[in-house]
Amino acid sequence: MIPVLSDSRWVVDCQTRKIVYFALRNNTHFKLMSQNSESWGSRVGLILAMAGNAVGLGNFLRFPVQAIQNGGGAFIIPYLVCFLLMGIPLLWIEWATGRFGGSKGHHSTPFILDAMDKRKFWKYIGVFGIFTNLAVAAYYCYLESWTLNYVWNAITGTFRGETAESVSNYFNAYVNAGDAHQHWSAWIADNPAPIIFWVVCLVLNTWILSKGLSGGVEKVAKIGMPLLIVFGVFLAIMSISLKSGQHGAVYGGSEGLNFLWTPDFSTIWNPKVWLAAAGQIFFTLSVGMGSIQCYASYVRKKDDIALNAMSAGWMNEFVEVVLGAAIIIPISVGYLGVDKVVEMTRTGGLGLGFRTLPFLFEQWGTTLAVICGVFWFGLLFFAGITSSLAMGTPWMGFMQDEFGWSRSKGAWSFGAIVLILGLPTVLFFNQGVFDEYDYWAGTVSLVVFALGETILFAWIFGMDKGWREINAGGDIQVPNVFKFIIKYVTPTLLLLVFLGALITPEGNDWVGAFQNGWKLDNGSIIKQLLNTGIKDQMQMSREAGDLVTYDALKTKLLYVNGARLLLLAVFFGVAWLVSKAYFKRVKSGKII
Ligand code: PHE
Repeated sequence: MIPVLSDSRWVVDCQTRKIVYFALRNNTHFKLMSQNSESWGSRVGLILAMAGNAVGLGNFLRFPVQAIQNGGGAFIIPYLVCFLLMGIPLLWIEWATGRFGGSKGHHSTPFILDAMDKRKFWKYIGVFGIFTNLAVAAYYCYLESWTLNYVWNAITGTFRGETAESVSNYFNAYVNAGDAHQHWSAWIADNPAPIIFWVVCLVLNTWILSKGLSGGVEKVAKIGMPLLIVFGVFLAIMSISLKSGQHGAVYGGSEGLNFLWTPDFSTIWNPKVWLAAAGQIFFTLSVGMGSIQCYASYVRKKDDIALNAMSAGWMNEFVEVVLGAAIIIPISVGYLGVDKVVEMTRTGGLGLGFRTLPFLFEQWGTTLAVICGVFWFGLLFFAGITSSLAMGTPWMGFMQDEFGWSRSKGAWSFGAIVLILGLPTVLFFNQGVFDEYDYWAGTVSLVVFALGETILFAWIFGMDKGWREINAGGDIQVPNVFKFIIKYVTPTLLLLVFLGALITPEGNDWVGAFQNGWKLDNGSIIKQLLNTGIKDQMQMSREAGDLVTYDALKTKLLYVNGARLLLLAVFFGVAWLVSKAYFKRVKSGKII
């Protein structure tokens, strides 16, 4: 039966059908739009989620160790300068880039960057903004799962009455470090907890992501961030107020603070300290990752970003420089003294947080040990999860935008990728897979991508347009000097940081290298790429006739190269999807 319609309604109806028909034939434009209708629920929620993205394990575990390793008071000045000249500008660039892309319907860096210039290769630079998140999530979530396990240990009193050595050994057994088990299968059979906690952690992340931005990520940030600050303030007060002689401490907690906060200008010209400071600024602010752009792409076109970026960025700095500095350092220095702590962090930082602290808390009596243990690892867990959630969103946004995936399909596929990519970090933690991911994805890629996006923003998109983007809808006017900084200072510094890392001279002796010829350090990117460090050790052990070590190193080399191949596969896999999406767009007439 033909419905009786007035003429005008009939016309409208026909047109709607035509549009729907057209849309269905010519790709899935309507479907695509409807699959990504995420938005933030409130301004407070947005700021807390962005701060949660930045505030992570890096604030409490990485920062103190970097500070200790780089001379305490000598570290803080380069660190703050890097924050002002690189961190803050990058925050504004990334927020502005993200909101700009979002207004064009893009929520991940490949097509956000693509929208900023007509040259086609930018979208492949944008691949970093998805790749890095997947690769960092692959090892980060494992670390996050340790914190869950340790909350459990604190509640059940696993470490009560144990010696320092046995608390430390628990950690070794947990990550299968040392020669606990020759084969990973024996380790898992003996000790399935690491895998179980890890999978629980992944499922939790995935489930929250499947609830969306305002329904999942924002809610977790609104609960997790305030709790984290309460826990952090409590622990900071406890450790700073530690007196020598109290609970068996040898020195006062203030000794550790003095070490950090007595400025030391003697190393101000040491590039090693600057490189470390710059690296920490990147990692802690989550810049150069692509996750800030993704979060910002869901900010409405007319909403402020100038002030929001500062609120989230400064909140991260408060948590890092005030709380992050006031827990691990004062307590461990209080018991062990500065020299021993410097010595202990030489091989990395995880030990202090997981081996030493749980033992020291036990010295404070049962009740305080339980409270402090739950607060410390609970704080780490909230810091971790609000960051790992951010790592899931660029991939989800991309698949929703380009392939019309639903939110939950995006979330569960993220979980699956992290599971596959992360498994080697769990099983072969001991063989350096974890460190390999951290180095290439969590360190080098950040600088490379930040350099690319800064050049695009300031020089190609153009600083005038860029400046307008940053200030549009702003609740503050960004000081004009930043226009100059973003255009000249930030890219120059980024380039220096990259070059410094690429060709680090032997022993980090820059002056010597200029005078006596340049020999590359094994820590430089070039030597890392060539695996010179491991190969040198192999050579040495062969010469010494130590075949056991030689074979172990040979195996390690295999794992390290395997890890790199995996990372490359992910990078090119994402690049392939980007090119597929691009040709899909061309075909549908969205790109001419
Ligand atoms: N900023 C986080 C930290 O300090 C790490 C992170 C990096 C989070 C990149 C998201 C993206 O631990």
